[in-house]
Amino acid sequence: MFHFARCSRLTRGTVTSDRLLSSHKTRDFLFQHLNRRGNHSAPWSSSQIPSTQLTVGVPVLRVWRQAQKLLRLTSRQQPRPPSIALKFILGPAALTVTARLLGPSAHCEADVNNNKVPLEVQVKEKIPEFSWAVLWEFVRPQLFALMGAILLAFGAAALNIQIPLMLGDLVNVVARHMREQAGHYMRDIQAPAVKLLGLYALQGLLTSGYIILLSRVGERVAADMRTTLFTSLLRQDIAFFDANKTGQLVNRLTSDIQEFKSSFKLVISQGLRSATQTVGCFVSLYFISPKLTGLTVVVLPCLVGAGALIGSFLRKLSRKAQEQVAKATGVADEALGNVRTVRAFAMEDRELEMYAAEVQKSAAMNETLGTGIAVFQGLSNIVLNCIVLGTIFAGGSLMARDDLSPGDLMSFLVASQTVQRSLASISILFGQMVRGMSAGARVFEYLALDPSVPLTGGGRIPLDSLMGRVDFMNISFSYPTRPGNQILKHFSLTLPPCKTVAIVGESGGGKSTVAALLERFYDPSSGVVMLDGLDIRTLDPSWLRGHVIGFISQEPVLFGTSVMENIRFGKPSATDAEVVSAAKQANAHNFITGFADGYNTVVGERGVTLSGGQKQRIAIARALVKNPSILILDEATSALDAESERVVQEALDRATTGRTVLIIAHRLSTIQAADLICVMSNGRIVEAGTHLELLSKGGLYAELIKRQRSNGHK
Ligand SMILES: Nc1ncnc2c1ncn2[C@@H]1O[C@H](COP(=O)(O)OP(=O)(O)O)[C@@H](O)[C@H]1O
Ligand SMILES: [Mg+2]
Repeated sequence: MFHFARCSRLTRGTVTSDRLLSSHKTRDFLFQHLNRRGNHSAPWSSSQIPSTQLTVGVPVLRVWRQAQKLLRLTSRQQPRPPSIALKFILGPAALTVTARLLGPSAHCEADVNNNKVPLEVQVKEKIPEFSWAVLWEFVRPQLFALMGAILLAFGAAALNIQIPLMLGDLVNVVARHMREQAGHYMRDIQAPAVKLLGLYALQGLLTSGYIILLSRVGERVAADMRTTLFTSLLRQDIAFFDANKTGQLVNRLTSDIQEFKSSFKLVISQGLRSATQTVGCFVSLYFISPKLTGLTVVVLPCLVGAGALIGSFLRKLSRKAQEQVAKATGVADEALGNVRTVRAFAMEDRELEMYAAEVQKSAAMNETLGTGIAVFQGLSNIVLNCIVLGTIFAGGSLMARDDLSPGDLMSFLVASQTVQRSLASISILFGQMVRGMSAGARVFEYLALDPSVPLTGGGRIPLDSLMGRVDFMNISFSYPTRPGNQILKHFSLTLPPCKTVAIVGESGGGKSTVAALLERFYDPSSGVVMLDGLDIRTLDPSWLRGHVIGFISQEPVLFGTSVMENIRFGKPSATDAEVVSAAKQANAHNFITGFADGYNTVVGERGVTLSGGQKQRIAIARALVKNPSILILDEATSALDAESERVVQEALDRATTGRTVLIIAHRLSTIQAADLICVMSNGRIVEAGTHLELLSKGGLYAELIKRQRSNGHK
């Protein structure tokens, strides 16, 4: 039953032959005394003390010296009541631990002070909550592996406690042989050596087993989380992406999940070991001296309270300092990100001033935090040292009453040190766990979020009976991110089947918003958008976007794959011939075949290796390959130079025949042939008619035409 007390000290670190011997002797020494626990009359023979001094490990040696001195003292003095002295026992451990437990960020962030602080801390007040239920959903499929890992890890920890004891036995044999020079060495050593070898092998097996299982669980849970989160992100409303920065979303997929995974693995593997040791040592402490342990338990809550207080204070300080660092980083980020603008306005000094001011503030805050931590650490050290003192005082008084033998006191000191170390490592782990949990919470936050516009589900109109008539009926709309700002006000418009309708008007007037509503990127606040007389909210959005509507915007975005794959993005099932035919319609075939790799040419990230006109024509091919009934052209040529515009316009003219087309344009030359031209102002249509009708009307359209002509447009 005293195993824990002995082994806990012996389990630390690699056992070199030197230490091995010393451990063994200590153990022998302890053992003598432990065995005499029942009859405390055992005299403390002075010859034993030096041998112990020489051989035990450094901390124990120190403790032992102090103990000796104190014991000499206490033997001369009257024993003091243990109650006062015991207040110090184990206090520091508890203090350190609780502060870490309750203020984990203070510890881990004290030296962080870097740029990793997420900027969202500044922006978002809402802190996502960690959900065990969600974690359970991810862990459940890996439950067997996890249980296996836990069992193996526990087994490895238990063996870790046993191995040093076995080593002791082995050394016993060696020592006996050295002392007595008798017996058969090989025969005597065989049994413990084989046993030890077996234990080594088993321990190694268990260790690799639990690491394999744990990393399997960790990786699978992380992969599952990544795909689930990505699925969840992909189906969010467009409004969600208006409100969240892409960088932060990607961060959740990468670093947050990474952080979660490593914390998860660490907490399980090291947590188990430290917990096993702590419990083991507490048990042995109890067996050594229930009184001393009992008193410790009484003192513990006070120290827990004190630690919690200081911990939460430090945590608050640390959070504020972190926020300040983030603020400074934000200033730098903005200045560097917009360095051309800064340079163009010669604002370098101003930016520097702003940055320096923020940095200084953060330095001051971190200094305060540093001082706080320093005082805290200093206090813990004092209390920590008082443990030894307190234990010896209290133990001494118990010894004087014959309640405790010197060996017991020694064992108690050793075991309580192990408890301290284990608790300290648990407290560090706890900090890691809190970090892991907040990373997990950030991952889970978006899993539960349901988009208001689903990706799929709803009715479909058979494509052969689809007319392609669109009605915007009395639409009012404001963007979810700016609810107070109404963009469309009782907007009504009909796109007749196979006709081309153009919308013109001032920039920011809401033209693109109309297109976004037809794509069902957003739902209107009031009013309905209808396709062939059916509310598009009743139709399947994926069918609507994938088969009915082709959308070409001002700045086409291509993916960094081949031309072929980019065009096929419009219709994954398209054959090569269909892709080529779409490219021909889009006036793109010629330039594509001009590339050395033809359709297999990789276009670079976002299509950077192509010119604007080329990109736009590939985008047109991408829209045409799905043979959409409705085509939306949102300023499709306005980013192009005159020559590219001509080629693209040619492609567009060809593409629009036989479809319902909505053209949005501010360059009026491109829409003169439209069947209907609508002029938008202030969120509604103020004029409608053909080019000639509107010209003769002499209203807003005529005014726009006049202005553009005088500005040099045709
Ligand atoms: N995603 C968005 N979130 C919030 N407001 C937006 C968003 N997109 C556009 N707006 C605002 O809506 C108004 C109309 O924009 P838009 O329809 O793009 O105008 P147009 O295409 O006519 O130039 C503008 O004031 C713009 O600032
Ligand atoms: Mg626009």
